[in-house]
Amino acid sequence: MATTPSDGDLAALLGQCTIEEKISLLSLKNVWETAAVDRVGIPSLKFSDGPNGARGADFFDGTTAACFPACVSLAATFDRDLCRRVGVALGQEAQTKGAYVLLGPTVCCHRSPVGGRNFEAFSEDPFVSGALAIEYIRGLQSERVAATVKHYVANEQDTRRFTVNEIVSERALREIYLKPFEMVVKQADPWCVMTSYPKVNGAHIDAQPLFLRDILQKEWGFNGLVMSDWGATSNCDDSLKYGLDVETPGPAKHRTRDNVQGSLAAGRITEKDVDDRVLALLKLLRHTGKLTDRKDTPAEQAIDRPEHRTLIRQAGAAGIVLLKNDSSNSKDGSQTKTPILPVDPAKCRKIALVGPLVDHAAAHGGGSASLNCHYKVSPYEAFKSGLGADVEITTSKGANITRAYPDLEAGAVNRNGNAGFIADYYKTPDLSGEPFHTEEYPRGAFTTLMNTSAVGAKSARFTSTYTAPTSGTHYLSFSGLGPSKLSINGELVTEQPRELRDSMAFLLGVQDEIRFQHTFVAGKVYELVIESVPSPTNNAELHLLENLIAAHLGFVSQADMEVDLLAEAVGLASEADLAVCFVGNTAQWETEGQDMAEMALPADGSQDQLVAAVVKANPNTIVVVTTGVPVALPWLDQVPAVLQAWYAGQETGNAIFDTIFGAVSPSGKLPVSWPKRYEDSPCFGNFGLDSYDSQVVEYVEGVNVGYRHFDRTYGKGADGGEVLFPFGFGLSYTSFAFADAVLEGTFTKTGDETVTVSVTVTNTGAVAGSETVQLYLAPPAESEGAGAGRPPKSLVAFEKLHLQPGESKRTQLTFARDGAAYWVEGQAWRVDGGRHSVTLATSSSPRDVKATLDLDIKEAFDFSS
Ligand code: BGC
Repeated sequence: MATTPSDGDLAALLGQCTIEEKISLLSLKNVWETAAVDRVGIPSLKFSDGPNGARGADFFDGTTAACFPACVSLAATFDRDLCRRVGVALGQEAQTKGAYVLLGPTVCCHRSPVGGRNFEAFSEDPFVSGALAIEYIRGLQSERVAATVKHYVANEQDTRRFTVNEIVSERALREIYLKPFEMVVKQADPWCVMTSYPKVNGAHIDAQPLFLRDILQKEWGFNGLVMSDWGATSNCDDSLKYGLDVETPGPAKHRTRDNVQGSLAAGRITEKDVDDRVLALLKLLRHTGKLTDRKDTPAEQAIDRPEHRTLIRQAGAAGIVLLKNDSSNSKDGSQTKTPILPVDPAKCRKIALVGPLVDHAAAHGGGSASLNCHYKVSPYEAFKSGLGADVEITTSKGANITRAYPDLEAGAVNRNGNAGFIADYYKTPDLSGEPFHTEEYPRGAFTTLMNTSAVGAKSARFTSTYTAPTSGTHYLSFSGLGPSKLSINGELVTEQPRELRDSMAFLLGVQDEIRFQHTFVAGKVYELVIESVPSPTNNAELHLLENLIAAHLGFVSQADMEVDLLAEAVGLASEADLAVCFVGNTAQWETEGQDMAEMALPADGSQDQLVAAVVKANPNTIVVVTTGVPVALPWLDQVPAVLQAWYAGQETGNAIFDTIFGAVSPSGKLPVSWPKRYEDSPCFGNFGLDSYDSQVVEYVEGVNVGYRHFDRTYGKGADGGEVLFPFGFGLSYTSFAFADAVLEGTFTKTGDETVTVSVTVTNTGAVAGSETVQLYLAPPAESEGAGAGRPPKSLVAFEKLHLQPGESKRTQLTFARDGAAYWVEGQAWRVDGGRHSVTLATSSSPRDVKATLDLDIKEAFDFSS
């Protein structure tokens, strides 16, 4: 077909397919591609992860790709235009991987500061998540690349994500967790949605009619394709009836030809159920040009575009949040009046860069959002290239933060003479007979996950010849998905007799490593042999992890482990004019598949000790925190300046450099509240590892997520119930004034009105800068008959303004009735009558309110979605 097919053409195409062909289209044909029916001209369509870059088909070490800021970093920009431009660029990148479906954005809400995968999602606030995802999706789809909004719904934690049963009230679902999905479906028309793994209120998403059929399709009018998360299809019949269009990955586990034919014959499903699912796929093929000009799947390419580099640097810097900027200090204890940031390079002759993230560019988090970046700029590289040769830069790692020891690599050579290891896969459970598949691996880790060549393996042997580069009693770690053994020179040195308890945590994070020391002599050759079998229990209800084999051999040299990093860093800091401490998490700590245990920076206090000691040695210390979550900052009072950098993509070092030296005035705002302690967070004790053994997680805080909770504790309790930094907060190198705020409009049951607040914002400082004006709506007091249990206020609008020094702009912030509505269980949305209060502010803290306006709503009314 040359011209875009009509609905009639699609129906005709469907009509030409046999039932067997239609069944083949109900699941992917492999890990990433839909099935084709060549006989009638239905081509295959390739998908690619993920939200911050198009990774292509290989999970690890694949074709290089541009790495964009993580969604939490994009959220911190509060910049709709930037999010749209990132969406466009992601669409261009996806095409270079032959993929016209990108598996992102992730719009789940941040529920806890220890969520391992929060970085991939925008915010704790559903409105921010929805508003920015809308722009991202519009940008992406303008390139005819489908967005896949995920994970629908309630995938806030990764601990036991396949099996956990999440108990969430209807109201919390509607007002918080479903909200971003509702916004994007209604306003951005995403072409795909991905279902989540967990059970929600007792059943998987595809095993109940509520989420897919009743809400997504009937209520919101979703007209695109629904795919499961990888391995999240939980059944054959219900998933087909309720609207899960495609089972992933392929080949099918549930929608096999026999299963579907059997269900049809028994009348458990109808052919119309099958046709509806296939039609959704055909529409997606139409949207993405697969039926017209993009029939083929081009080979993957690495195209490193200069304009993407520029955009990533700009977006990364726009997301950086300046948390603190006090006066700089002198070593004699005196203080200057000017804030320490931005730094004037002319005044620094010697800068000490210390911390584990000086040389490590923390561009992205772990799991399916990680990718093989075209390149990554570390802070050290950025300082080196950005400062003149007359500025001396010294560096020290300062602290060890490995969660898992890095895979053994240097010195390993496989039997083919290539660097790394080799895996032999056997069809027998005891490594007998000949291997049916052999594959090389660059370092000491292998997995059969998503490896179509190793399907059916019942045992594996993983070997390498290791010539120790240095002598020492080195540190090793070992773990396997199923029972596994490690031998060195024919001698069993360690054994894991059972499978690990959470397979996903092993595959994408790390879990229960066996750690030990082993003596090696430099230049001597050691035969390393790992033998491993699948977990006998499969350890998961969903199919994805069945019969997988995987193991990991980690290594840290004795010298690296035992060196006194702290003393070295402190020494360098004390000799420098300025110290910059780069601390944070890595993709090992913040990853899909695993949550964190605490808010403290890893590992075992090493980074906190480093900052405290460095600032003691040099009071002119700036701390840059690179995480996707708020972390404890026990040294905050001692340091003059703190920047929160998030995972800013491949240009992370440059984005931080631009901010520290003032090429960019920071304008990022926190998309999450920053609690003082983990215990203060609303779901403490009811999240992730807190409830590891129960298999049930209750969303006890209801709608009071993030600032909705902290607004209730504000001013109460021994320490005033305050957060360390409020949602929406962020400092600047300039200042802003607000004048003439006016509110116009109201809501009545006719439904289509908007309320508008106008305000004039002036940049009153000496440099260009940007401010995000935020509008929060507070309901009438309960005593006036308003709905019980509503959070004190909710964000209903925001606008980011870019202003030159002295420049004023009048802006309008608009919101519709949804902003004033709350969900009445079992019924509908309700807007209360009475005096609502609208605050115009620069953060959610009552301290940052710039104007308070009344919104009078004459009478209460209900409406449905
Ligand atoms: C993740 C998804 C991802 C998929 C494919 C799953 O484990 O949850 O977000 O898109 O894998 O890699």
